[in-house]
Amino acid sequence: MDVKAAVAFAPSQPLSIETVQLEGPKSGEVLVEIKATGVCHTDAYTLSGADPEGLFPAILGHEGAGVVMEVGDEVKSVKVGDRVIPLYTPECRQCEYCLSGKTNLCQAIRITQGKGLMPDGTSRFSLNGQMIHHYMGTSTFSNYIVLPEIAVAKIREDAPFDKVCLIGCGVTTGIGAVINTAKVEPGANVVVFGLGGVGLNVIQAAKMVGANMIIGVDLNSKKRELAEKFGMTHFVNPSEVEGDLVPYLVDLTKGGADYTFECIGNIKVMRQALECCHKGWGVSVIVGVAGAGQEISTRPFQLVTGRVWKGTAFGGAKGRTDVPKIVDWYMNGKINIDDLVNKIMPIEQVNEAFDLMHKGEVIRTVLTF
Ligand code: APR
Ligand code: ZN
Repeated sequence: MDVKAAVAFAPSQPLSIETVQLEGPKSGEVLVEIKATGVCHTDAYTLSGADPEGLFPAILGHEGAGVVMEVGDEVKSVKVGDRVIPLYTPECRQCEYCLSGKTNLCQAIRITQGKGLMPDGTSRFSLNGQMIHHYMGTSTFSNYIVLPEIAVAKIREDAPFDKVCLIGCGVTTGIGAVINTAKVEPGANVVVFGLGGVGLNVIQAAKMVGANMIIGVDLNSKKRELAEKFGMTHFVNPSEVEGDLVPYLVDLTKGGADYTFECIGNIKVMRQALECCHKGWGVSVIVGVAGAGQEISTRPFQLVTGRVWKGTAFGGAKGRTDVPKIVDWYMNGKINIDDLVNKIMPIEQVNEAFDLMHKGEVIRTVLTF
């Protein structure tokens, strides 16, 4: 079938809206009509050419929501008409990783997904006979996509696409980091570095679980107001702190934070986030994605004396199990997504959406079809 997609033909070039050919679902796969998609930094990172695993030509996008239009043989968990969120981290419930109960990093389709292909080793997208890669197993910058059944989360039918699409990445990443990875408990003191879409979700989850101090750190003081709306109790702009940031934060938390979250992707900040943790038990979670090849460092003494360094992908969430719950939280007013969506525009304006993100003027732009 013919579909409308924003195609990335080469690194650092604007995306181009094209009529692309899409093959239908095979056994165990579903066809999904994408209704809305967020534009996330990971899309921009791959488009920039800096991502060593980036493949071109490709259809980017991984933060979407839509409706099942057709199912292949053997598909049992979803049916035509179901609302779904595509999962770049699938959940097969059968592989060693899923069965461990210790991780969300399902490996069932990892190898082909990393090559921009469906599990059978082919792409369903082509343009005039030329193969186009899938991206993160999702490619939500296309109005129709094919996904393995294990890579869709069925959600309730009254969920608005242009908000819950963010649960496909940023919202779940931030909330999950608090709930699944750090397991923040009531009364804990928390420091969040970076108050973008991810950091704001860390803040609202910290508030939800009953954290005591929720300190936000950002170089941009304009982020303060919205972060307070999400539950931040103290704001720190490192450029306004006299002396080093780490002792300042240790002082503010009276001995160090119980939990810290790096939501920027800056390796220097990752070190600060670890070192402002409380001696004996403070846990620092790396949420932001650093550039390829970068390395973190600290003195091992920091770990010997009880601080813990962790990382999280997709907030440690098991997509098919956890994503529908987070959609319910949004629908029940437990979490705020509306204030994360600053602009909604048609897919035709995808390049403008990237410009807005680079200027830092929006938390998220959502594209519709
Ligand atoms: N110290 C403090 N704050 C900083 C610093 C710094 N050195 N550098 C950047 N910031 C702030 C920015 O001002 C911005 O408010 O960090 C925030 C980052 O927010 P966004 O750019 O909106 O990024 P976000 O979408 O939240 O993603 C954060 O997570 O998913 C990953 O790839 C993504 O690594 C990125 C991170
Ligand atoms: Zn699995």
